[in-house]
Amino acid sequence: MPAERIDGVAIAARVRAKVAVDAAALKASHGVTPGLTVVLVGDDPASAVYVASKEKACKEAGMNGETIRLAADTPEAELLAVIDRLNADVGVHGILVQMPVPKHIDAQKVIRRIDPRKDVDGFHPVNAGKVLIGDADGFAPCTPAGVQVMLIESGVDTSGKEAVILGRSTIVGKPMAALLIQSGKGADCTVTICHSRTKDLAAHTRRADILIAAIGKPEMVTADMVKPGAVVIDVGINRVDDPTAKKGYRIVGDVKFDEVSQVASKITPVPGGVGPMTIAMLLANTVRAARLTVGA
Ligand code: GUN
Repeated sequence: MPAERIDGVAIAARVRAKVAVDAAALKASHGVTPGLTVVLVGDDPASAVYVASKEKACKEAGMNGETIRLAADTPEAELLAVIDRLNADVGVHGILVQMPVPKHIDAQKVIRRIDPRKDVDGFHPVNAGKVLIGDADGFAPCTPAGVQVMLIESGVDTSGKEAVILGRSTIVGKPMAALLIQSGKGADCTVTICHSRTKDLAAHTRRADILIAAIGKPEMVTADMVKPGAVVIDVGINRVDDPTAKKGYRIVGDVKFDEVSQVASKITPVPGGVGPMTIAMLLANTVRAARLTVGA
C-alpha cells in the first residue's frame, strides 16, 4: 500500500490559524500586536520571494510584518546598527536577517547581535543552547520545529523510535536531533545524525523508524535505503533541470518520492511538505516572543 502523504500545507494552515487567534488574544488582553521585522541585504531574487511571503503571512495572521531592504554593498557596521535599533524597539518582537548575507558581512556576527529574545529564527547560540538543554523558553529553528509539529499532527508515535537524520547543518540537522532527543511529545527518540563522512549510509537509514532527509542532494534517498513502514520526512528543496517543465526546471526533495512512497508508511511530498511549515513556525515563534515580553 502506498504511504500516506503528510500534508504540510494543511498542517501549516492549522498552525497559522492558531497563530492568528493567539495574536488577536494578545492584542485584546495587552494591546500588543506581535511584530516581525525581516532585514534583507542585497537583491537575491530567491531571498526576495521568501521575504515577501513572510511579510504577507504576518499580515494574514493579524500581525505586523515589516521588511527593511538594504543595498548589497551595505557595510557590516550599518547592518549591525539596524539590528541594534530593532533590538531596542518595543514594537518589534521578532527579528530575522535573511540568509545568506553578502560575503563582506560576517553572518555569525550578525546572528549574535540579535537579542536572543527576538531571535525567532532560533539561530543565536543562546537559543541553540536552550534547545539542546530542553529549555522551553528558547526558540527552535523553524524548519526542525515544523518537522516536529508535522510528526505530532500526523499521529506518529515517536517515543523510543530510531530517528535517523541525514545532514548535520546548524539550521536543520543539529537542532532536529536536539528536539527529538528531549523527553515529551514528538520526541523521546534514539537519534543518529549521518553526514558526508558517514560510512555505509544505507546501513543507518535502513534502521530508521523515522528518516529525516536534510542533505540537499536531489532524490538521494531511494527505496532500498528505507525500512518498510518507516516515516519519511523530506526537508530537501532542490532545483533540477527539466526541459519539459515550463520554467525549464522542477523542484524535488532529497527523497525519490515515487519509489520511497511504496515502502514508507507516511511521507512528506516536495513541494507541499515541510516547506510551508517553516513560515508557520516563524509566525508561531514571533507570537511567543511577543507574549514573553508581557509575561503572558
Ligand atoms: N534563508 C533561507 N531560509 C532562511 C530562514 O529560515 N531564516 C533566515 N534568516 N534566512 C533564511
